[in-house]
Amino acid sequence: MKSIVTFDGDLDQAVAGQSVTITFADEIDCSRGDVIVRSDAPCEVADQFEATLVWMAEQEMLPGRPYILKIGTQTVTATVTEPKYEVNVNTLEHLASKTLGLNAIGVVNISTDRPIPFEAYATNPDLGGFILIDRMSNATVAAGMIHFALRRSQNVHWQALDVDREAHASLKNQKPAVVWFTGLSGSGKSTIANIVEKKLHALGKHTFLLDGDNIRHGLNRDLGFTDADRVENIRRVGEVAKLMTDAGLIVLTAFISPFRSERQMVRDLMAPGEFVEVFVDTSIEVAEERDVKGLYAKARAGQLKNFTGIDLPYEAPEAAEIRIDTTALSPEEAADLIIARLIP
Ligand code: ADX
Repeated sequence: MKSIVTFDGDLDQAVAGQSVTITFADEIDCSRGDVIVRSDAPCEVADQFEATLVWMAEQEMLPGRPYILKIGTQTVTATVTEPKYEVNVNTLEHLASKTLGLNAIGVVNISTDRPIPFEAYATNPDLGGFILIDRMSNATVAAGMIHFALRRSQNVHWQALDVDREAHASLKNQKPAVVWFTGLSGSGKSTIANIVEKKLHALGKHTFLLDGDNIRHGLNRDLGFTDADRVENIRRVGEVAKLMTDAGLIVLTAFISPFRSERQMVRDLMAPGEFVEVFVDTSIEVAEERDVKGLYAKARAGQLKNFTGIDLPYEAPEAAEIRIDTTALSPEEAADLIIARLIP
């Protein structure tokens, strides 16, 4: 450290509560919010932790959903795994659990989108305590205490590849993109996506269509239709779509994807401009009347639980790049409109 500067001149020392400017002997990129430590007593830096969480929201914790994590002066995006266990607060017994409800306490793993400096809560509450905030409502949903960093966070590194995404895309002579169809079951997502893909294919574009019903036969066979499973469904599809754009493809996806948070999460995975959200805007009345797969009838009869639009919500996009009114356009016309946006 070179000097401690104040309006009234330099100081020899400063203590907590004072407002000072510090200059370093070496040129280091450091600004408001960063953590400075003694070189002989550094704090840890990691992007995966084990932590205890106290859940404070009415809506239960959704493993895989991105939340805002605030720790010390840092704000990052974080996802939580299924609890390792929940703690019975009366007996301190460990209980198996898939989520945490209001006032539940449990131990989870947390991963952040970038490494953060921290200390275990037991040694330093300031650098080991955090809160989680819902990205859509801005409500604080949990408070947490870091136990320790997971070893894999230090031992798994990103491998740089020589044939990178630009190389893949340029060989295919196209700009990769994700065309993300969202809408109710039976809204027409798959029908329109299928026509769009045929047209792109005929134009010589390299494409791939990921379809909800098909992915649920393989990669996501283990997932059902609870909120938590839908979050995980979209998280995995987002990661697959991301890999496919890295391979240079134009990816089309047809999933109900009922939640704004997860659609935003996939958008954030992609490069700016690469994510094109297509809202297939068919009302529940029209979708139910068409009832192509007979599922609405089953849901109304109580034979199918957690059906989107009936007993689970659909959060319509607020700013989709493209909105399709399927009562005004035929699937063919809708496809042409999308193609015109994709290939001006
Ligand atoms: S998502 O909500 O997780 O994005 P996804 O698009 O993969 O859903 O799967 C939806 C398809 O699964 C529907 O088109 C329908 O054929 C079928 N399905 C079966 N049960 C349900 C349900 N409870 N809610 C919605 N779709 C269901």
